[in-house]
Amino acid sequence: MPAIVTLTMNPALDISTTAECVGPTDKIRCSEPRYDPGGGGINVARIVRVLGESVVAVFPVGSATGGVLGGLLDKEGVWTRRIPIDGATRESFTVDEDSSGEQYRFVLPGPRLTRAQQEQCLVMLEEVARDARFIVASGSLPPGTPPDFYDRVAATAHGLGVRCLLDTSGESLQRSRFGVYLLKPSIRELRELSGDDLADEADRLAAARRLVDGGRCEVVVLSLGAGGALVVTAHSAARFAALPVAIRSGVGAGDAMLAGITVGLARNQPLHDAVRLGIAAGAAMLRMPGTRPCRREEIEMLFHRAPAAVSVDGARIES
Ligand SMILES: Nc1ncnc2c1ncn2[C@@H]1O[C@H](COP(=O)(O)OP(=O)(O)OP(=O)(O)O)[C@@H](O)[C@H]1O
Ligand SMILES: [Mg+2]
Repeated sequence: MPAIVTLTMNPALDISTTAECVGPTDKIRCSEPRYDPGGGGINVARIVRVLGESVVAVFPVGSATGGVLGGLLDKEGVWTRRIPIDGATRESFTVDEDSSGEQYRFVLPGPRLTRAQQEQCLVMLEEVARDARFIVASGSLPPGTPPDFYDRVAATAHGLGVRCLLDTSGESLQRSRFGVYLLKPSIRELRELSGDDLADEADRLAAARRLVDGGRCEVVVLSLGAGGALVVTAHSAARFAALPVAIRSGVGAGDAMLAGITVGLARNQPLHDAVRLGIAAGAAMLRMPGTRPCRREEIEMLFHRAPAAVSVDGARIES
């Protein structure tokens, strides 16, 4: 069984296309669509696979859309364990407007999961992750799922002795209190969680430390977009510069980053090298149009260029 298992409670079939101009009323003629499997944990699994590691993606599926999504993952070599549901797996629709270069992203809420189906997801996760080393839970929760659901995922991981990495936002981030190994909020998500604008590094460091001291996680990887990342543990704090890249699409940088970090950890790299692999994967993803996954050689080339960690305020750099 693979060392890495991902959980995606609200997967989506990502459909991307282009149009000359997006506007009201008139039919918008689009180019031939591209279909990609999507949703936080699934995006992570795809990049883990790109990096050459085995991975199992656990997620609920319903209707023909779910079947298409699962089939696309099969083709990419991502192993899947699917929990059948009555509702239809959602579709997300991205249109790149040629005339302006703007991107329009339409995201649907996803099907409601019953309590029984939520339980089935946890049971499946527990079964699949029994011999794993990492569970990566990422993405929004579908309608009907309580906002503290990820606490149950964290408890499952804890019970198995598996490290849990979590990337979520809003209420589900707010309500995740059980304690995970690693949290990856973006600055936007940490601002929302802390209710503070976190204008300078000292404020960001303090907010991240509060998460660690409050027992929510052992490591915070605060991603700062073009500003790179701040990595905080109980005894260390380090900043990582981003790699300058020509951006084709902002989609999926955070998921690719989490994939790189998880692969680095699974290869027993020190935390700061795993984060550098994450920064490289995030940057490689930005160079790809739409939801197309980045390439391994690109990530590896960027990894060698990724700057070393710099200590914040003389704090230790975690290895
Ligand atoms: N404009 C950029 N230039 C260079 N690197 C970037 C840029 N944007 C993102 N990255 C890289 O990707 C990582 C993750 O990006 P970001 O902080 O935007 O997280 P995110 O999860 O994609 O954001 P959110 O969930 O809020 O949409 C960053 O830490 C950085 O390394
Ligand atoms: Mg994100």
